[in-house]
Amino acid sequence: MEIRIRPRRNRRTASLRAMVRENRITPENLIWPVFVLEGQDQRIPVKSMPGVDRMSIDILVKEVQEAAALGVPAVALFPVVDDKLKDSMASESTNEEGLLQRAIRALKEHAPSVTVITDVAMDPYSSDGHDGVVENGQILNDETLPVLAEMALSQAEAGADIVAPSDMMDGRIGYIRDALDASGFEDVGILAYSAKYASAFYGPFRDALDSAPKHGDKKTYQMDPANVIEALREIQLDIEEGADMVMVKPGMPYLDVVRVVRDNVEVPVAAYQVSGEYAMIEAAAQQGWLDRDACMLESLLAFRRAGADMILTYFAPAAARLLQ
Ligand code: PBG
Repeated sequence: MEIRIRPRRNRRTASLRAMVRENRITPENLIWPVFVLEGQDQRIPVKSMPGVDRMSIDILVKEVQEAAALGVPAVALFPVVDDKLKDSMASESTNEEGLLQRAIRALKEHAPSVTVITDVAMDPYSSDGHDGVVENGQILNDETLPVLAEMALSQAEAGADIVAPSDMMDGRIGYIRDALDASGFEDVGILAYSAKYASAFYGPFRDALDSAPKHGDKKTYQMDPANVIEALREIQLDIEEGADMVMVKPGMPYLDVVRVVRDNVEVPVAAYQVSGEYAMIEAAAQQGWLDRDACMLESLLAFRRAGADMILTYFAPAAARLLQ
């Protein structure tokens, strides 16, 4: 045959393929989201996320140390808050002796090299299950900002390296930045969940924290899955307000958004492979329909190809182990 140009030549052997590989995934790209629970020696599996447990602080510390030894640089903490402690103003979120604050201190003491990222939003603490203050069924924007700022301050005081507002209220990044700076926390970073969509893929996460909205949905603050130009607007606003890093969430169904964002901003870009994405791969693997490990690594590589610098993924320790 007269075919002079044969792209297959570059794929012939493993060493050739390694030489021409455009993107790589390493444990250093991964951020591990974890669910922390009250008690001692407690692990409670999340039913809709096979392989993911809610962990008490003592177990969490050991698991995070292991993940760090595998090269995972950071964790994102989510507290499982007792229903009795939830109220309409999320007041437990600023309790110095609260579960989250104790978890932050334990990690900074026993795994000091690990970057601790905390979620800033009312939902795990809110009796309404919403990210903001609810009044007559409305999610109030401006009334929510001081609550978020107090929460971020409390997390910074406990030792958080980076606070990550995931609530999608307008103006929150600037408001939180000012509050941190005014209290001497100018070195605490902000990872903004800037383009966070009103997604059905968060279902298993809300099971894990029992944090589903008690009424209504999150569509008046989280973004419409149909939009991408609006994602750039949200991202640009957050950067102007002082975000050090920005995030797109969910991940796999939104890799086009990750690419657009990566091509348009000059800060690190994170993407979140959310609970529902994890559940899909695990469920199919349990059925024997997918090769779990191969699909896990392929999905994470796809985030890198789309331009994500960091990937939040429940697979972090498992993927880091496979990448050793
Ligand atoms: C809360 C928050 C959510 C997630 C991260 N932070 C849920 C929500 O917005 O309802 C979802 C993460 C996941 O599904 O893995 N503000």
